[in-house]
Parts: sequence; C-alpha cells; structure tokens
Amino acid sequence: PAGNDFEAEDATIVQGVVAANHTGFSGRGFVDYTNVAGSYVEWTVNGPGAADLVIRYANGTTVNRPMDIAVNGTTVAANMAFNSTGTWDQWQTATVHATLTSGPNKIRATATTANGGPNVDKLSV
Ligand code: GCU
Repeated sequence: PAGNDFEAEDATIVQGVVAANHTGFSGRGFVDYTNVAGSYVEWTVNGPGAADLVIRYANGTTVNRPMDIAVNGTTVAANMAFNSTGTWDQWQTATVHATLTSGPNKIRATATTANGGPNVDKLSV
C-alpha cells in the first residue's frame, strides 16, 4: 500500500533521541541522530511488494549527512545523500526504491559519518 507514514519517533532508535525543538515535523517530533557514525533509525514495514521508501528529513548544516539505507540487512542505497535543507525547520524528502518481502521488513537508515544523520521526521511507503 502506498502513502503510509511511519514516524521516526515511533521506530527503533539507536544512538539518537526524539526531539521537537524545531518546527514543521509530523507526529510528536523527529529523531535527532547522535553525531556519530553508526547511529540509526529502524522501521518495521509490512510487505510484500515494490515500494518507494520516502524519508523526510531536515539538515540545517551546509554539508551532506549521508546514510546507508538497508532492507532486512541488505544495503539498498549506500551513502545516500541527505543534503542541506537550509535550516533545521525546513524539511525535504529523499527516496529510494526497494522490494519488500512478505510480512514484516526492517528498514534501517544508518549514519555513515561522524556528523551523524540528518533530523529524520518519518518514512513514507
Ligand atoms: C543542532 C540542531 C539539532 C541537530 C544537531 C545536529 O543541535 O538543533 O536538531 O540534530 O544540530 O547537528 O545534528
């Protein structure tokens, strides 16, 4: 099914915190990744089917905050770019196409640099 939203603050969060100290997010807040490589958010999304994984994020710095996007442990986008959105109150989306298996799928977005990830609002599938 298309257009389902999975809030980052309701996902599994490793080396990140739920925050709400900026505007424009959906739900109760967003995930502020700890500024460290390996920090991640992992959502559980039921398949099967071909899907666009749409990640809504903000990056108030001027530098890219790349993340690896993995589905069930397999990287589907390495060092995917999460470039500056201007300010931490401005949100954009980054999309990767993937194939989900039947039943629950683990979709993980892992920061790959010491800056950590961008602020992540939600995953839409
Ligand atoms: C600022 C900003 C946070 C952000 C952080 C970062 O502290 O307020 O929302 O997560 O920078 O650099 O990751």
